[in-house]
Amino acid sequence: DQPLRLGIAGLGTVGIGVVKIVQRHADQLAARAGRPVVITAVSARDRTKNRDADLSNFAWESDPVALAMREDVDVFVEVMGGHEGPAKDATEAALRAGKDVVTANKALLAHHGQALAELAEGLDRAIRFEAAVAGGIPVIKVLTEGLAGNGMRRVMGVMNGTCNYILTRMEEAGLPYETVFEEARQLGYLEADPNLDVGGIDAGHKLAILAAIAFGTQVSFDNVVLEGIGRISIDDIRRAGDMGYKIKLLGVAQMTGRGLEQRMTPCLVPASSPLGQLTGGTNMVVLEGDAVGQIVLRGAGAGEGPTASAVMGDVMDLARGLRLSTFGQPAAKLVQATPAVAPNP
Ligand code: NAP
Ligand code: HSE
Repeated sequence: DQPLRLGIAGLGTVGIGVVKIVQRHADQLAARAGRPVVITAVSARDRTKNRDADLSNFAWESDPVALAMREDVDVFVEVMGGHEGPAKDATEAALRAGKDVVTANKALLAHHGQALAELAEGLDRAIRFEAAVAGGIPVIKVLTEGLAGNGMRRVMGVMNGTCNYILTRMEEAGLPYETVFEEARQLGYLEADPNLDVGGIDAGHKLAILAAIAFGTQVSFDNVVLEGIGRISIDDIRRAGDMGYKIKLLGVAQMTGRGLEQRMTPCLVPASSPLGQLTGGTNMVVLEGDAVGQIVLRGAGAGEGPTASAVMGDVMDLARGLRLSTFGQPAAKLVQATPAVAPNP
């Protein structure tokens, strides 16, 4: 059987996680896909870095665009990050060179998902991004496959583990925001630009992707009403607790009579609810469909293993020849999202 050959751009947390799964589970992957799944080439910035994995059997490309176009690559795995520059250029190059793409890059999808998905469809290629939303939770698969028979009423959830860690730690240890923010930085939880986390932007990217899938609309990140957690005080958390509530950075997307409402803002949630009981860096996504009712998915939203697990779910679909549309319907047929609320100034 022809192997499925991966080219991996990015050998950080997620890329190395993917390498480890492919190496550790080679036999199982081959059995489940009906063909071997192998890595042929990799790319990162610094070839000399010690990466806690054996990369000696893979060709090295210092330019991710060159990696994307290699003849011995069938699927380009983009796990570099960033929504302009190499991630976008290499993704487009891969599609144009006839490769399928798997990416974990929510910023890329939130800003360019529509155009990339249309490009992929026009070229009869696939771009898959399960890992981009809620890390290890296979929420995109659940929405596009398991819940395909539903009209979605609402999707909501806690989709940034760092913010949930900070809010939980403030509450449990009675520490102010600034102290816990510094702790999170020391623990390596924060993105290189911390405002992506605490400003709600990272979680807003994820909500915009999820909303497009749930409601059949074009990805519309500019219309997500965003407010981060930087102004939440320990007094706010205590007062909420006295009333039986927790404060969570909660994303909510729903179709209203006025259009698509998307909000990623600090919210009061009942302390006894599943969302209220979510502690630490965990994610939770709540899906409400007209037939199924409410479904709650909970799990690790970040980290090497969980995120690589989601990347590999997409890779395995491609290995099996399942090249379903990324959005559950052709991207070209997604309707323009009418914003129910004015975008942030
Ligand atoms: P990371 O640890 O910072 O790794 C990024 C990798 O990309 C590094 O190996 C880096 O090379 C490489 N890279 C960056 N720019 C490059 C360039 N111009 N050319 C070649 N290689 C380049 O990032 P990560 O945490 O793995 O995240 C990767 C992607 O997954 C991002 O889009 C992120 O948002 C997404 N994601 C991450 C998580 C998570 O838990 N980490 C969860 C969900 C989604 P060097 O190592 O040589 O510097
Ligand atoms: N910074 C993100 C988080 C990483 O804390 O959830 C996973 O997307």
